[in-house]
Amino acid sequence: MVSEHMNGPQIIQGGMGVAVSNWKLARAVARRNQLGVVSGTAIDAVLVRRLQNGDPDGDIRHALDEFPFPEMTERILHRYFIPGGKQPEQPYAPTMMISQQPTSEQIELVVIANFVEVLLAKTGHDGLVGINYLEKIQTPTLPSLYGAMLAGVDYVLMGAGIPRWIPGILDRLSEGQPVTLPLAVVGALATDNYCLRFSPHDFTCGEVPWLRRPKFLAIVASTTLGTMLAAKSDGHVDGFVIEGPTAGGHNSPPRGGSSFNEQGEPIYGLRDAVDLSVFRKLGRPFWLAGSYGFAEQLPAAMQQGAAGIQVGTAFAFCQESGIEDSIKQRVIALAKRNMLSVRTDPVASPTGFPFKLLQLNGTIADDRASESRCRVCDLGYLRQAFRKADGTVGWRCSGEPINAYLKKGGEIHETAGRKCLCNGLMATVGLGQQRRRGAELPMVTCGNEVNRISQFLKSPAAGSYSADDVLDALLGADANSRLEPVSSPSL
Ligand SMILES: Cc1cc2nc3c(=O)[nH]c(=O)nc-3n(C[C@H](O)[C@H](O)[C@H](O)COP(=O)(O)O)c2cc1C
Repeated sequence: MVSEHMNGPQIIQGGMGVAVSNWKLARAVARRNQLGVVSGTAIDAVLVRRLQNGDPDGDIRHALDEFPFPEMTERILHRYFIPGGKQPEQPYAPTMMISQQPTSEQIELVVIANFVEVLLAKTGHDGLVGINYLEKIQTPTLPSLYGAMLAGVDYVLMGAGIPRWIPGILDRLSEGQPVTLPLAVVGALATDNYCLRFSPHDFTCGEVPWLRRPKFLAIVASTTLGTMLAAKSDGHVDGFVIEGPTAGGHNSPPRGGSSFNEQGEPIYGLRDAVDLSVFRKLGRPFWLAGSYGFAEQLPAAMQQGAAGIQVGTAFAFCQESGIEDSIKQRVIALAKRNMLSVRTDPVASPTGFPFKLLQLNGTIADDRASESRCRVCDLGYLRQAFRKADGTVGWRCSGEPINAYLKKGGEIHETAGRKCLCNGLMATVGLGQQRRRGAELPMVTCGNEVNRISQFLKSPAAGSYSADDVLDALLGADANSRLEPVSSPSL
């Protein structure tokens, strides 16, 4: 029996890409009857790199065995699996970047990668599992949702954009109907109609299963967006995660123009404060995110009418997360001495959204270490579609080699300070590409309150903590009793 309260879970372990919130972390959280969320971002590239590392524990291959169309998984294993793993200095095989019309091979890979991650997270318990996507990354979205639904995902969470089409898409996918998603194309004319399409019928060759429709939570940073999504989405938004500017990952830009502090970080002000009374009136459950991942914060959020909290940073450095052990160890050691600092970089991310970067030596945030990196765009998840003169769609990323970007009509000022999030974030979880000049550097994102993660250590001498330790601290002394929000809209 799935244990789900009328308001849903009290704690959502936030989706953290790329593969930071992996199936191991989501499973550990879901086992405790809270919502474990895997990241769906770039999960196809993650799957093929895990296979090239030899899938040492066999988990991926076990999950592949469960996929209902074995001829598809055979193709993937044949192409990417290396028994025993590739040599450490050998580069990973390149993958094709997904564009407007993905090949059937790409669609299979995306569906299967999402299926595998959700299935593994759901194994061995009856708790709830969600998957997180960024709205800005559009091309894999439809097959991703389908793969996650084939594995029985309970929640879909989406932020970094305006996900107004997703709830209706979930409705239609559950009924096996074809779906379309409007593609955002820079320079599109009013008469253009660029769309992404996916057909369950074509994918399954007519063996379309009925699938349960997962709940949809929109991640928002303003009352305006929340109200708009509640009123104007295609389909039903089941609830909201309200994320403030101290949260790890991408942040919404400040409202009402950009001013910066001495560190060059965007300044947030009163206009960015969210009026929770508006959300209470919307009558849908909401969770608060951004520096809520510590003891005593859950009751404080519920006092304000929230169903609970969404927490990222505290889980990002726990034993089960995907971040490389050596990075976690350094971060925890520095947090103990209160020596970590996080910068909200307004330009690092090609999405154009501010992005939090932990200032750690040997990572992309370290200017000296990152100077030697040559721009290369070979994963391409953050590429932006643009309209070419002939009306077809081209693709460019402000983090790619500058000449290539300018040739495609991009502007030079858009390239300043841009980092390659795709390659950097893959390196953070031990899946970085090997280049002729050496390995790609990791890039660590986390929230402003990262120094406080030391409170999850069981003793001053401890060097690591688990997802259970985080949940025990968040839920308080009586981790089994359930708090009730002051007023409780139900899911
Ligand atoms: C390492 C890391 C990666 C993140 N990646 C994503 C992401 O891919 N998508 C997303 O919606 N939020 C992402 N977030 C935000 C979290 O889901 C969560 O909302 C946020 O971390 C909450 O604030 P906190 O960091 O103060 O706990 C990320 C956060 C961290 C720490």
